Amino acid sequence: MNALISPSILSADMMRLGADLQACEAAGADAIHIDVMDGRFVPNITFGPDIVAACKRATSLPLDVHLMIVEPEKHLESFASAGADYLTVHYETCPHIHRTLQTIRELGVRPGLSYNPGTPVESLGLLAEMVDLVLIMSVNPGFGGQKFIPQAIGKIEQTCAILSAHGSSAMVQVDGGISAATIQAVYAAGARNFVAGTSVFKHPDGVAGGVRALREAIDLNQKSR
Ligand code: DX5
Ligand code: ZN
Repeated sequence: MNALISPSILSADMMRLGADLQACEAAGADAIHIDVMDGRFVPNITFGPDIVAACKRATSLPLDVHLMIVEPEKHLESFASAGADYLTVHYETCPHIHRTLQTIRELGVRPGLSYNPGTPVESLGLLAEMVDLVLIMSVNPGFGGQKFIPQAIGKIEQTCAILSAHGSSAMVQVDGGISAATIQAVYAAGARNFVAGTSVFKHPDGVAGGVRALREAIDLNQKSR
């Protein structure tokens, strides 16, 4: 599978969100990552379903909605109706994770499962058949622009091993601190979907420059292997 780049609008300019989404499309991004934060599971507060619906009107790229909220099961339906293509919930927020993933599937949305840096991924063995995406956090969620936590590398390898042992073709996504300097190691560990906020939207050459720099860094990695 090719590497997929999913710019995170957490770092976009909210005054010109539509234009930023167009720039992502023009730059060849593969999806738009939308970070939903509730001020409870994570310290920050961000977007609700209305922003997801607005993004849906502004781009034809798939919308990858990352729910960093407590009791996500209460909001699955509204994010699904708003146009989410992927809904990713955190293992830490779901006492009935099996049911939650099942509900997402029943809503016609692709289910994603995320693990914080301090959460082991062993439970994935029980859930591998139910997910289309596994998100390994490489920062503690809540803010953009944080430093990549290197322990994520081993966890990505472990995640890939669990998925392949269960015959799952779910995508392994990594989120937090992804830049041209860190993406190589993450790709080598087996991740194929890269969320990037700061390195795309704050790149000196704009969104196109940011996406290009990430792709070039992966190509270098492939050549050096
Ligand atoms: C962090 C969010 C990330 C964030 C990544 O809680 O889940 O998606 O936007 O931002 P960068 O790429 O700046 O680390
Ligand atoms: Zn995210």
